[in-house]
Amino acid sequence: MFSKKTIRDIDLNNKTVLLRTDYNVPLVDGQITDDFRIKKTLDTINYLLSKDARIVICSHLGRPEGKVDNSLSLFPIAKHLKTLLHKELEFVTDCVGEKVQKAKSNLKPGEILLLENLRFNPGEEANSAEFAKELAQGVDVFVQDAFAVVHRKHASTSAITQLLPSVAGLLLEKEVDIISGAMQDPERPLTAIVGGAKIVDKIDILERFIAIADVLIVGGAMANTFLRASGIEVGLSLISQEEIPLARDIIRKCDTERKKRNFIFSLPFDGVVSNDMKINLPTRIVDWSTNIIADIEYYPKRPPKLASQIKKNEQILDIGPFSGSFGAGIIQLSKTVIWNGTMGVTEIEGYHHQIGPFAHGTDLIIQAILGDFGHKPFSIVGGGDTVGYIENRHLEEGIDHLSTGGGASLELMSGHSLPGVSDLLDK
Ligand code: 3PG
Repeated sequence: MFSKKTIRDIDLNNKTVLLRTDYNVPLVDGQITDDFRIKKTLDTINYLLSKDARIVICSHLGRPEGKVDNSLSLFPIAKHLKTLLHKELEFVTDCVGEKVQKAKSNLKPGEILLLENLRFNPGEEANSAEFAKELAQGVDVFVQDAFAVVHRKHASTSAITQLLPSVAGLLLEKEVDIISGAMQDPERPLTAIVGGAKIVDKIDILERFIAIADVLIVGGAMANTFLRASGIEVGLSLISQEEIPLARDIIRKCDTERKKRNFIFSLPFDGVVSNDMKINLPTRIVDWSTNIIADIEYYPKRPPKLASQIKKNEQILDIGPFSGSFGAGIIQLSKTVIWNGTMGVTEIEGYHHQIGPFAHGTDLIIQAILGDFGHKPFSIVGGGDTVGYIENRHLEEGIDHLSTGGGASLELMSGHSLPGVSDLLDK
């Protein structure tokens, strides 16, 4: 249960509300290419409008490092938000200062003002109390709804909460409720699927899943490092040489857990390989299952048996059909699936917008999660690449909870406290 006060718990009538959203969305030539995060803030905005609040919205966009960078202006977001809300709103070209003050004081009940990018001001990332004071000027209540940035200790996530009564918006409440609920008390069996490039970026979440999940499936480029640590030749595959001891350590931990209880740790046992990450090159499926050295203590003293091998000039770019089917089968037996990180290189599209050559493993996992093979588990998906891929394929409707947070959802799943949540008023 979410333990912080939300906008439902306080009087908002006619109040001036500072609403922190995360409008850090991808832009290409000033055009928004994905408005998922913007759409997810509409429930809170509409709720505030229904209470006749005067709404001042603030957000960051990109990493301008305290300097004005016009390519990261929130102006395109203002235009899009107007369309989504079917309502006029005012945009002001700064986030603090005289003109902002004037615009705030001119607001009438039910009107909206969007401030310029908070990170144009160095005070934001420095968590400056002075900057927060300026943001708080003329405001009665602070509403935190920017789930994707609550893992940062910035002025608009931390310092501001010392100056104004601070509560959560509806998106933040939902994200924290659903993700922590599934981590603390999941319907079992719980399957965790983790992909991504670097083990070190996901080490905490891997350790948490080793402790709580029934099955842990690892894919994506980080699986290559695990495979190398298990004695598999991986050719030119992306691996992190310095992470091999870490990978061995995790494999050992999984082994210990497996001996204690019913726990499955699964690495890919086949893969799609090619000479390069290109759509027009031949691909091959390599099944290396018989090469894996079960006891990693022997590696590299005992050379692996060579049943089927990745050649020196090849690289693994996706999990293979057997690993994908195994994952899909496990999902069939699961009540809850938590997924973060794609299984292969999903950025490369196929011809005529077909599935890319290295996205079939990820696709098989999605199909299983969506219930295409009969059983549909409760699903939570986080992480920029995974969510982006699901959106590109317009499959978001079938996922029970598609998180707006990348780093923030990882932190929450890892069991770390989120400064932007802990500083809000308790229920
Ligand atoms: C995100 O996209 O994960 C959030 O907006 C946070 O952005 P940051 O990593 O630049 O702080």
